[in-house]
Amino acid sequence: CGIVGYIGTRQAQDVLISGLSKLEYRGYDSAGVAVKDGDHISVEKKAGKLANLSTVLEQHPLAGTLGIGHTRWATHGLPNDTNAHPHASEDGRIVIIHNGIIENYLPLKEELMARGHVFRSETDSEVLVHLIEEKYEQTGGDLYEAVRLALGDVRGAYGIVVTHADHREIVAARTVSPMVMGVGQGEMFLASDVPALLNYTREMVFLHDGDMVVLHDDGFKVTDLAGNPVTRQIEHIDWDAEAAEKGGYDSYMMKEIYEQPNALTNTLIGRLHDDTGEVNLDINLDPKSFKRISIIACGTAFYAGMVGEYLIEQLARIPVDIDVASEYRYRDPLVSENTLAIVMSQSGETIDTLEALREAKKFGAKTLGIINAKGSSMTREVDDTLYIHAGPEIGVASTKAYTSMVSAMLMLALWLGRARGTLAEAEGRELLHAARELPRLVEESLTPERIENVKRIAAKYADAKDFLFLGRGVNSPTAYEGALKLKEISYIHAEAYAAGEMKHGPIALIDENMPVVVVATESKLLEKTISNVQEVRARKGKVIAILTDGDTENARHADDVIYVPRTHEMVSPVVNAVAMQLLAIFIADKLGKDVDKPRNLAKAVTVE
Ligand code: G6P
Repeated sequence: CGIVGYIGTRQAQDVLISGLSKLEYRGYDSAGVAVKDGDHISVEKKAGKLANLSTVLEQHPLAGTLGIGHTRWATHGLPNDTNAHPHASEDGRIVIIHNGIIENYLPLKEELMARGHVFRSETDSEVLVHLIEEKYEQTGGDLYEAVRLALGDVRGAYGIVVTHADHREIVAARTVSPMVMGVGQGEMFLASDVPALLNYTREMVFLHDGDMVVLHDDGFKVTDLAGNPVTRQIEHIDWDAEAAEKGGYDSYMMKEIYEQPNALTNTLIGRLHDDTGEVNLDINLDPKSFKRISIIACGTAFYAGMVGEYLIEQLARIPVDIDVASEYRYRDPLVSENTLAIVMSQSGETIDTLEALREAKKFGAKTLGIINAKGSSMTREVDDTLYIHAGPEIGVASTKAYTSMVSAMLMLALWLGRARGTLAEAEGRELLHAARELPRLVEESLTPERIENVKRIAAKYADAKDFLFLGRGVNSPTAYEGALKLKEISYIHAEAYAAGEMKHGPIALIDENMPVVVVATESKLLEKTISNVQEVRARKGKVIAILTDGDTENARHADDVIYVPRTHEMVSPVVNAVAMQLLAIFIADKLGKDVDKPRNLAKAVTVE
């Protein structure tokens, strides 16, 4: 979702609308602004396109030089005028915008209601309004302190922007959701993303996780959530509009690779409950009501589905079959009311998958979407959707949507396993803990030293004509996805096999010109995978091994090693996929290919 804030001398409404329009590419379904005039704040919100809001504002302008604005993508609660942000307190004096999820909003809501607060919506954001209102009174009218104390009570992810009718200031804070401040002469700006501000200023301050900021006409103050002052440098941004959308990276794909820790946090947040070892997916399906599951997808989503097949069968002991959508539609599949058909799609628009979904529905299957694009065609036709919340993905070769889809599948498998009694509480907790670690582990996979190592390996092998990728069990899809990434963006021929299958054919291809990428991270079958590595070496093939940090023992069998952080085997496909993405993108870079626009490919294929 998009956020813009302004305090200065211009008419705030113009800055807000212009800024929000630059964030339109991220998608949204309603928009709203709050503008302060004297000691009164007016709020205007409209469902639908930003144009709906700007038309109203043209006819009835909101005068004032301080304001905040938002574009919202509904996930819970309809995309209507009421649910749009900003949200105001009952007396209209406090207005807030909130991106993210408050994980403990239910207990907070109960406490607030017991203290007499009246709630008007079902949103978790409203909890923040009441909390801030309460703290504002307790602090004798200190807005910054009120927001700080309120955030001390909440657990979750947020980008929050607050203003008050009696104060000429904007208070904001962020955890997972990004936020950037623009510094002008006698004016200050705030936005969720750089492009929103480029028309006004190029002097920007990037806020870090856990930063709070107070904006005044003539400056700003950054603190941490404990109230300690923090120094953040003003950076001069010389990106053009396109570079700004890429966040300063060379490509969308690279930006999206680096966005994965955030994307994964957003996939997982609010869904894992450590206290009970349960997963709350808020999906309207009876986990005990079906006897088999069909997973249907195309491309990268299909490989995420393959990980899902493995996880669901392991953890929930339900028979799962998986099909590429173009096959499923025409193969007269065995479907009944006892079937759960899961369609997986980043775009929610791929025609093959959409038609396969219709086919499954025709035979009475229950349907679930694991989808990124909110409001897309598939989300309107499935019984329910498990959104992956990876944020807009623009690079044609999918990266963050893949790792978020795999994580969503993990949660689904956990949910099914716990509900059907096939997964013990202790193991459930262990996996839940491992899932929670994923954003941090992926962040750790992207440190400069690791990046340099993969770049070096990429340069060494970029001239190869063919690659082989091997993996086992839950990581055989990692090998398939690795080969697909390389093919898509570097045009090098690559094939993937389950490691144990290599000896049944592909081994004939191996000679000194054949690099073989092997996923050999810690697992129950690691020894067997290492035997396969030795088979490659014995035929002079070049081995690039993906190994768990610290595994120097098996490094001896490889020509080159990409080390990845240690994690639970069941969640390792997420961490291992990052190594595959990096290898592919650095090889493509080395070959001078345009990774964002690979030849012959489209982001979403809406023709059969
Ligand atoms: C296209 C893209 C792939 C993508 C596939 C499925 O072929 O080039 O990158 O994986 O469609 O897309 P979906 O939006 O359904 O996940």
